[in-house]
Amino acid sequence: MQEKDNTRRKVLIGLTTAVSLSGIPFAATPFIASWNPSARAKAAGASVKVDVSKMQYGQQIQVAWRKQPVFVIRHTKESLKGLEATLSKLRDPNSEDIDELYRGQNLTRSKSSEYTVIAGVCTHLGCSPKYHPEVEPKPWDASWAGGFFCPCHGSMFDMVGRVFKGVPAPTNLPVPPHFFNGSILTIGEDEELA
Ligand code: FES
Repeated sequence: MQEKDNTRRKVLIGLTTAVSLSGIPFAATPFIASWNPSARAKAAGASVKVDVSKMQYGQQIQVAWRKQPVFVIRHTKESLKGLEATLSKLRDPNSEDIDELYRGQNLTRSKSSEYTVIAGVCTHLGCSPKYHPEVEPKPWDASWAGGFFCPCHGSMFDMVGRVFKGVPAPTNLPVPPHFFNGSILTIGEDEELA
């Protein structure tokens, strides 16, 4: 089982891709491990902390939490404005089909107006969707406005992880509990939800 988990983790990490944005230098998507949690804390699925202040606008990083990737995206103002253009393509724009933790707080679906925090696991069969923030025609969508594409069976999600209509993935990418203390993002807990 452990070996299987390790293999899966390697596959997920292997799916991490480079990101390109007009006006923003090429940036690899780093996979950030948690800040030295103890082995016991890791086993219990302890929360992880990440300083997100150094992220570039438009950048995505992956953070490991409970052996699963969590995507953190720092949005540009343009990408948040562009969410409107994709609304008609979405199956569940208000996340009514899932337990949305921070419904209505921000366009990002998170507790921040600038960062999105979503599970990096496709809700179809568990592949890791790839980040494609470019607004340009893609083989899978001629009017692509940026978002996530799952290479396994073609599911599409917008820039904040909401699923498109007519794709295999049944629901939006879930938002894990989290909170921000200045630029320190904690994933895995939120006292306000307790
Ligand atoms: S696992 Fe993502 S579309 Fe099937």
